[in-house]
Order: sequence, then C-alpha cells, then structure tokens
Amino acid sequence: MAEQFFPVPLRRIVVDTVPNFDLFIRQKDRYVLYRKANIKFERTFLNNLIENKIESLYVSKADLKLYEKYREDIRVEQERTAKSKGFSGIFIDPGEITRYHEILDNYHVVDRHLFEPGQSLTFPVFYHENNDIYLAEDFEGRPEGPWELTLESFSKDLELLIRNEDKPAYRMFVQGLMTDLKAGPVEHQATALREMSKMVVKDVLDDPRSGESIKSANTSVQGLVEFIMENDASFYSLMKISGHDYYTYVHSMNVCTFCIGLGTAIGLPKSPDLELLGLGAMLHDVGKSLVDPLLINKPGRLTDEEFQKMKDHVLLGVNILKENHELPDRVYEPVAQHHEKMTGIGYPYGLKDDQITQFGRISSIVDIYDALTTERSYKKALSPFEALSFLSKTQKDYDNNLLTQFILMLGKQIEQKAKTY
Ligand SMILES: [Fe+2]
Ligand SMILES: [Fe+2]
Repeated sequence: MAEQFFPVPLRRIVVDTVPNFDLFIRQKDRYVLYRKANIKFERTFLNNLIENKIESLYVSKADLKLYEKYREDIRVEQERTAKSKGFSGIFIDPGEITRYHEILDNYHVVDRHLFEPGQSLTFPVFYHENNDIYLAEDFEGRPEGPWELTLESFSKDLELLIRNEDKPAYRMFVQGLMTDLKAGPVEHQATALREMSKMVVKDVLDDPRSGESIKSANTSVQGLVEFIMENDASFYSLMKISGHDYYTYVHSMNVCTFCIGLGTAIGLPKSPDLELLGLGAMLHDVGKSLVDPLLINKPGRLTDEEFQKMKDHVLLGVNILKENHELPDRVYEPVAQHHEKMTGIGYPYGLKDDQITQFGRISSIVDIYDALTTERSYKKALSPFEALSFLSKTQKDYDNNLLTQFILMLGKQIEQKAKTY
C-alpha cells in the first residue's frame, strides 16, 4: 500500500490554485481522501491542515505526471510575474531559497553507512530531496521512539538528515557504535570517526570564538591523524563518500581528511606537521561563518560584487581565529592561503610560487578538488576523473609535485572504494 502514494509537502500546494489530482491524508498506515481533484485549494484548507499539524499531503503515484505539470505551471507563472516586475536572469523562487536556508539552519547531514536493519534509534531520520524534507518511512505515523530500522529504510540514495535538536542523541548513537566497532571493520570505524569529527567542525563554524570548540577540533584532528597512520591504506574510507554534500562543515571535514591523506602520502611527520595541517584544513573556511549566509549557498552564479564579498571569508577567518585563540603559526597557512594560486592569480594576496607555503599549496589543491566534486543546487558534481582533468588543465596554478601525488592518492582511493561499497 505504502508505495502507491508519494508525500507532497504542504507548501507545494499553492493557495487559490486548482490541483487536478486527488489529495490524500495519511492516518497511521492508511491513506484517506482529503480533497477530490479540481477543487480550489482555499486558504482555510491550508490553515486547517496547519492547525492539525499536518505537514504533508499525499498524491497517488498514478497522478505523478499531473502533479509535475501542476508544479511546472506554478513555476512558469512565478517566473512570468517576476519578469513582468523587471527581474532578469535565471529565476529562482525566493521561497525556495528561504526553504533551503531553513534546512541548513535546522538539520544536520548524517552518513547512511552507519545505519543497519534491526538497529533501534532514539531519533528520527529524514530525507532531503528537491529542497524538501521527508520523514523516512520507518518513522512515519509513529511520533514516539525508539524506532526499529527495517531493511527498506534509507534504500533510496538520498541525503539523510537529523534535526539539530536530535544531535545529542545522534552523538550518543555514534559513540556507542565507536565502542562496539573497536574490533569491527575499519570502514565502519572510519565512518563513525568521520561523523563525530563532522559534528565538531559544525560546532566550530557555529561559534568560531569558542575555545571549547577549537579544543575539540584539535582532539578530533589528532584522532583522525592517528587513525590514518594506524590504518595504512584503509584511511581512504575516511574520505568522502557521497557527492551531494554542499555544507561548509562537510566540505571542511573533506578538506581536512584529504589534506592529512596527502600530507601522509608525501611523508610529513605526524607530529607536529600532520596535526597542524589537519587543524588548519579543518578551520580553513571558518570565515564563511561571518559572510552573509545567503551568499555562501546562493543557487546560481555570484555577481562580481557578491564574489568580492565572498572572498572576504579568507581574512575574516584568519582574524577571528587570531583574535580569539593562540594557535601555532602554521595552522593559519591553510586558512590564509587556500585560494592562492602558484601563478599569482589567487586571493587575497595574489601570492606566487615560493611565497605560498607547503600547507597553503596542499590545501589549495584539496579545496578546489572537493568544490568541483560536490553537487550544488545549480550544478552537478564532477566525477573524480572529470575533476582531475579540470585540475590538469589549470595545473600551472598548483604545485606540480603535490598534484601528481594527489592524483596517485585518489587513484588508490577509487580502487579501495570499489572493494568496500
Ligand atoms: Fe575558502
Ligand atoms: Fe574551502
């Protein structure tokens, strides 16, 4: 029964439009007809639904085409209205942007590889699809936990999220797994470690002034370095898995692990080099927390003026760290130099060749690679191969020896991934 309907978030049905498909409500495991097709969706309907805490209506899968046409007509109409008011360029519904930021503010991305059938969870898990959030099936119609996971949960390859308020419960869950996994497969240990570190990075980005967060970041980096040193080739499993993580904390975590990986590949010593590089990489975009969030994840291209503001994140990051913490000098190198290019066309200072430190060079390669292989709302992610051929075309911008090492390292990672997933 469940698969014959799909959820439609309330906000997708617009007041005063006339949907030409039946709308249903879910009551426990049943779907009940709410409004027949071709009835105008009145404001009072919406208010009633909200009052009754109903967040999604349901549409029969047989009506999917009708629903898609309905949404497309609404989009065309909004675009027409915007253009009639003098708007030019690619039209993006402002409601979508607001919604996108709501999601960024209220949810935390989690890794699907941690979940297994039979596990009992004390927090609900959600899907992220087309800028909407859906409760995963195991949790639907069951307001109280704990929830038992079944085989079907998370079968779709979509981003999984938890609500921010459930982070403490999630932390406990991951911690529990880490203890259980001590003797388990190294890939699972890696995923759990990654999830813990990701939460630490997010705390730093939320409050870069907090000494507590920086301390946890430092501990977390030490754990990562240790794991990578101990597990030899298996450290590739620490690196990013999915291509649709566009959050700054996920990106920071990716850059951190890739930098430690590349640092290890070129033989940097664990202490202090790898630890300083790792911490600097984890903090490299901390200045983004001070740039207008509407710019950070703006769907579509930035205007020249917006791009200038965006560039400020580098020095804002250096300053906020210097003002609030006493960190070893080399930690600042990835923060200050990750957008510099060997040819001198980078920012903020336009440094060239030897003016860019080894940590700066490593982080600039890793940073651009992760950005290229990450999907954004307005662009598809490049595959690792496409990203590397892009990098080869602009190779003068990067330290060639490091770039070669990086390519070799990714080759091994891809090989390793093919074995484990
Ligand atoms: Fe950056
Ligand atoms: Fe970055």
